[in-house]
Amino acid sequence: MELIGRNDPCWCNSGLKYKKCHLALDETIETYRRKGCIVPSHNILKTPKQIEKIRESAKINIAILDYIAAHIKEGITTEQIDQWVYERTVQAGGIPAPLNFEGYPKSVCTSINDQVCHGIPSPDVRLKEGDIVNVDVSTNYQGYFSDSSRMFCIGKVSEEKQRLVTITKECVQLGLAQVKPWGFLGDMAQAVHDHASQNGYSVVREIGGHGIGLAFHEEPWVGYVAKRGTQMLLVPGMVFTIEPMINMGKEGIYVDEENEWTVYTEDHLPSAQWEIQVLVTETGYEVISY
Ligand code: MF3
Ligand code: CO
Repeated sequence: MELIGRNDPCWCNSGLKYKKCHLALDETIETYRRKGCIVPSHNILKTPKQIEKIRESAKINIAILDYIAAHIKEGITTEQIDQWVYERTVQAGGIPAPLNFEGYPKSVCTSINDQVCHGIPSPDVRLKEGDIVNVDVSTNYQGYFSDSSRMFCIGKVSEEKQRLVTITKECVQLGLAQVKPWGFLGDMAQAVHDHASQNGYSVVREIGGHGIGLAFHEEPWVGYVAKRGTQMLLVPGMVFTIEPMINMGKEGIYVDEENEWTVYTEDHLPSAQWEIQVLVTETGYEVISY
């Protein structure tokens, strides 16, 4: 903990004295740290001003996903989805966060059936009846980031794929219900994992969610294979994603050797993912994007 006098300006740049701003919160965090808990550092606790800008970013993010929901259909290419995302993001004054991120070549991820995540849009990939597809949109607006993804069922899909999509959404909702200050990320993770395994599914271990706000990916890493009461303490002002990847079959995955991005299930059974972005509030949570 840094040593700031009670009457010094708060570390968060609010202009308030420390004692009138983050002092009480820091003291509570310190009691958890002394007990051995993993606690968030100051730089991942967002201020009200930052949260307002993150909400503006999320407004664009949500509108793009709403547009995709209204227009996605059998026969279109995933390149078309990429164009929608690029044009609408730029039109709104933003930048698609995935574009050129660690060399990623497109503006959005479109992951179909046995693709777990990071499916790369292409003019050669056409959506067909029976596909389940995750569209993952990430938005940078004036340096503030939002990130969410939804599943879309193309035409009539099999009952078992529909069920995977529905249960995965329920996993996110049950995880979300666990988010409250002075709880733990593991509370959320266990709720996600329990619901997936009770339904005969497996949870991808290696890839998870992340803190987000002033950068695309911030601390903490957010997994879904963890026990209640473990992982990072939840503190008001934290913003992170809940985005479990749930496999119909086994948990094993591999990365496409050619493009070095796209992740597939090893058994080639379908995988589903929904992603929301959540703020920890004084009383519980606020969904920032979905
Ligand atoms: N929303 C995904 C994530 O949370 C998107 C990754 S974008 C990519 O990481 F550029 F890494 F593909
Ligand atoms: Co994400």
